[in-house]
Amino acid sequence: MSRTVRWGVLATGGIAATFTADLQAVPGAEVVAVASRSEASARAFAERFGIPRAYGDWAGLVADDEVDVVYVATPHSAHREAAALALEAGKHVLCEKAFTLNEREARELVKLARDRGVFLMEAMWTYCNPVIRRLTELVRDGAIGEIRTVQADFGFAADLGPDHRLRDPRLGGGALLDLGVYPVSFAHLLLGEPDRVQADALLSPEGVDLNTGMLLGWDSGANALLSCSIVGHHPTAATVIGTAGRIDIPHSFFHPEGFVLRRDGAEPEEITSGPGPQGLSGMQYEAAEVMRAVLAGETESPLVPLEGSLAVMRTLDAVRDRIGVRYPVDAL
Ligand SMILES: NC(=O)c1ccc[n+]([C@@H]2O[C@H](COP(=O)([O-])OP(=O)(O)OC[C@H]3O[C@@H](n4cnc5c(N)ncnc54)[C@H](OP(=O)(O)O)[C@@H]3O)[C@@H](O)[C@H]2O)c1
Repeated sequence: MSRTVRWGVLATGGIAATFTADLQAVPGAEVVAVASRSEASARAFAERFGIPRAYGDWAGLVADDEVDVVYVATPHSAHREAAALALEAGKHVLCEKAFTLNEREARELVKLARDRGVFLMEAMWTYCNPVIRRLTELVRDGAIGEIRTVQADFGFAADLGPDHRLRDPRLGGGALLDLGVYPVSFAHLLLGEPDRVQADALLSPEGVDLNTGMLLGWDSGANALLSCSIVGHHPTAATVIGTAGRIDIPHSFFHPEGFVLRRDGAEPEEITSGPGPQGLSGMQYEAAEVMRAVLAGETESPLVPLEGSLAVMRTLDAVRDRIGVRYPVDAL
């Protein structure tokens, strides 16, 4: 493979467009193909982003010899199928969050990638964000002592039409897998997998979660108070409280421009990334990480390790168990 990494985009919805625009700004990234369930959508997307090849099915994309990495941007319910198809064809894969609908599906993907010796990463872009990486370093270096509590939330009052994927349990609908995955992943980043999971939620008539509160506990005595919602506007902020200080991350904590470090007994320090590239959404960092790893011959990213993604899926499964949200695929 040359220093160029050739990408294929699988699905043509909202995040596929946002990611593709960021990806095209990464040096060495070439978007060479797009696939959709409909040829017309693939063509329209290709035209919009100047992509040379458009496929009306996924098989065409994964059979394309000039595609190195497939970016999976379908609803969560199709992540397993789409990513597996690409991995089986020997493609490296970046798969949107939530990684899959449940841990079992995620384990299948991880096994497949390891068996084939190809790269696989969940698109948890927060973990690749330079401000979050700086924060993690500071915490690991003891800037606020030992972590006692993580607070984080993500919510907005969504005006969803009756056919929206977030309302449909078959598509992994609800707040948890779309939004709750961020506070959960953030707590995992700082504290690892929790030893205990409690949760409570308001469910929709269709059986997806609308408004969810979570309490995660660690044997160390640390805990995390997390929430997500598609029926209320949340601050979408986070606070990390330690034995020697506190860190406040404002909206949107999962891709912040900065945070405030409050060491006990010292003036607050504002830590910012400086102005980011104009007009980008922040997904260029995860794209660059995939390309770095793939060019280095790595099969997973140290920033978004597969065991971490599996652990997050276990926590999401445990939350769903507590709140009584079942997806049809859980029964398989
Ligand atoms: N990283 C982030 O910040 C971020 C933000 C938003 C969403 N996401 C994640 O990205 C994924 C897609 O979200 P989105 O907001 O882009 O959704 P979306 O706008 O509904 O787009 C999803 C696309 O997937 C395809 N699709 C729709 N239904 C499908 C089905 N039943 N089976 C297979 N493919 C289907 C469609 O593309 P075609 O018609 O071309 O097949 C559709 O345009 C979700 O997993 C979500 O959690 C991530």
